[in-house]
Amino acid sequence: MSEKDHKVSRRQFLNYSLTGVGGFMAAGITLPLVRFALDPALKVGEDTEMVAVAQVNELTNEPKRFDFKVNQVDAWYESEVSRSAWIYEEEGEIIALSPVCTHLGCTVDWDTSDDQPNRFFCPCHYGAFEKDGTNVDRTPPTQPLFLYDHEVRNGTVYLGRPRPQV
Ligand code: FES
Repeated sequence: MSEKDHKVSRRQFLNYSLTGVGGFMAAGITLPLVRFALDPALKVGEDTEMVAVAQVNELTNEPKRFDFKVNQVDAWYESEVSRSAWIYEEEGEIIALSPVCTHLGCTVDWDTSDDQPNRFFCPCHYGAFEKDGTNVDRTPPTQPLFLYDHEVRNGTVYLGRPRPQV
């Protein structure tokens, strides 16, 4: 083969150049758009901000229900969500429990069943939890009520996200 056979023709050179430059430009435009479109979905588990829910001086050692709202960002959708917590104070410690039953997600109430006095009770399938959220044996729930992250600032109780106790 002669050296002449290996030479790239002007037409081939133009084709390679345009394809390369075109591909580079397309990637330069497409990749940021894809990243922008997927970005909210790629952000995992952003912590919910702490929300003021109750005053410390409102708390007793009897669980009290407090309703509040949190801003929730779910990928591209931002919304205000209603939440509740059962909060009480015992031996100087504040306990804030989620009212969501760990069996199938109904809402528990405090001390509403004659069969389960001084316990959280779930009317859906008669689930019961102790005051500290521990699930009562031989009732359907198999894990304790979730416990909210909390902090106290200037006499106000702020709650974060509910987390499993075990
Ligand atoms: S949902 Fe609470 S006991 Fe089933």
